[in-house]
This record gives sequence, structure tokens and C-alpha cells, in this order.
Amino acid sequence: MNSNILILPGSLRLGSYNRKLASEAMRLLSMTDAVISRVDLADYPLPIYDGDAETESGVPQNAQLIAQRIAAQDGLLIVSPEYNASIPPLLKNAIDWASRVRKVDGRPVQPFKGLVVGLASASPGRFGGMRGLEAIRIVLRALGAEVMTQQCIVLRADEGFDEDGRLTDDVARASLEALCERLLDTARSLSRHG
Ligand SMILES: Cc1cc2nc3c(=O)[nH]c(=O)nc-3n(C[C@H](O)[C@H](O)[C@H](O)COP(=O)(O)O)c2cc1C
Repeated sequence: MNSNILILPGSLRLGSYNRKLASEAMRLLSMTDAVISRVDLADYPLPIYDGDAETESGVPQNAQLIAQRIAAQDGLLIVSPEYNASIPPLLKNAIDWASRVRKVDGRPVQPFKGLVVGLASASPGRFGGMRGLEAIRIVLRALGAEVMTQQCIVLRADEGFDEDGRLTDDVARASLEALCERLLDTARSLSRHG
């Protein structure tokens, strides 16, 4: 069976370097036999997590839809900036809400448990977002995901893409290719869907 891989950018910004990097990953993965899709968090707006809101109204439908999409995947590629050396609130909030989903279509589900996750980050800075990826790693491991050690970091991302949004640096491109290849291999071998 073909593997399902979801790409999740952690930025909504028009002109986002991470969205460009996600598009590059999408192009690479689309050349394989895997089924590739992308989730744009702009399509699933969510309030900031609040336990009282959850008690009163339950988990919002958009969180359930995100969890449902994640639960259907063998692999997830998160492509996210770092904010103040950590996870951007957009991404953390979506993960927090999705982690509260217990059932999809009446069946018990743990959307992140056993999910193979690859991480990538682009930043105009000299760390390329690697500290943020460490923070994402901790969160996803706590949720039972199989977070791969290999990652892709694009530093000086303001100079890293051409006008068509393609990576200009061969080292960065090779790193993304290697990450995508490893993600696919690992997702195939650890598939949660038989
Ligand atoms: C609140 C905030 C905090 C930031 N902190 C960091 C940081 O710790 N390290 C870093 O490399 N860039 C940091 N940046 C700069 C982002 O890397 C930059 O805005 C980047 O373009 C965001 O990703 P995007 O292009 O995908 O939207 C920060 C930006 C914001 C708005």
C-alpha cells in the first residue's frame, strides 16, 4: 500500500520561507509513489486552547478535522519557523487542540501515537530555526510520535530561494532530499495502517 504523507507548514505568512520550503518538499515527495497532501492551518482557524471552552463546547470541529487528517497519515513533515527559540503559537495551539481529540468517527484515536515525523525549518537567522525544532521534538515525543533525528535546516533563508521559490543552495536542497527520502522509508516501515 502507498504511504500517506502530510506536510504541515507552521507559518501563515504570505511569502513565508517555511511555506516555500514546504512547497519544495511537496515537489520532491510528489515524485515518489506516496500519497502527499498538505494542510494549511489558515483553513482550520482555532481559538487559543482554553480548558473551560473545551468543557463547555468540546473540541472545535477544526481541531477534529486536523486530528482526523493526521490520524490517516503514516508520516508527517512539519516545516516551521522558530519564534524566540521555540514553537510558534500557531503550531503549538493546533497540536494542543488535536491532542485533545479522543475519537474520530466514533473510534478511539491518538492522532500522534506512532506517527513518523520529519522536521524542517527555515529562518533568515544563522541558526535556521534549529532551536525551535528541538522544542517541537519534545512536544511530539510526549505525544508518542516517532520523531526522526534527521532534520533539514535552511539558514539565511532570506537569500535561500529564487523567484520561483526554489532552493538556491545545493547543500540545503540535498538536506531536504535526504530528509524526504528518510521520512518516506521510515513511514513505510513503521506504517500505522498495516
Ligand atoms: C515573535 C517572533 C520571534 C522570532 N524569533 C526567532 C528566533 O528565535 N530565531 C530565528 O531564527 N528567527 C526568529 N524570528 C524570525 C523568523 O525566523 C522570521 O520572521 C521568519 O521569516 C518566520 O518564518 P516564515 O518566513 O516562514 O513566516 C522570530 C520572528 C517573530 C515574529
